[in-house]
Amino acid sequence: MKSEKSSEKSENSTTVTVAENGPLIMNGSIEVTNHEGNKEVMTKAAFCRCGVSNNKPYCDGSQVAACFKG
Ligand code: FES
Repeated sequence: MKSEKSSEKSENSTTVTVAENGPLIMNGSIEVTNHEGNKEVMTKAAFCRCGVSNNKPYCDGSQVAACFKG
């Protein structure tokens, strides 16, 4: 997959930050549609990367007890 790097950030951009040993942290315009088709709109979200969250797809901090590395 090709990616482009840019140091510019537009006002309306959505950013994704990979937290060390933690979630994907998104800031910006975020719309999440669940498996039933229900939508949530938010400006900040932390998505689980470790797989042990009890609130998937969101992070609930469980990665700490699970000693997730990544
Ligand atoms: S990354 Fe936080 S619970 Fe999985």
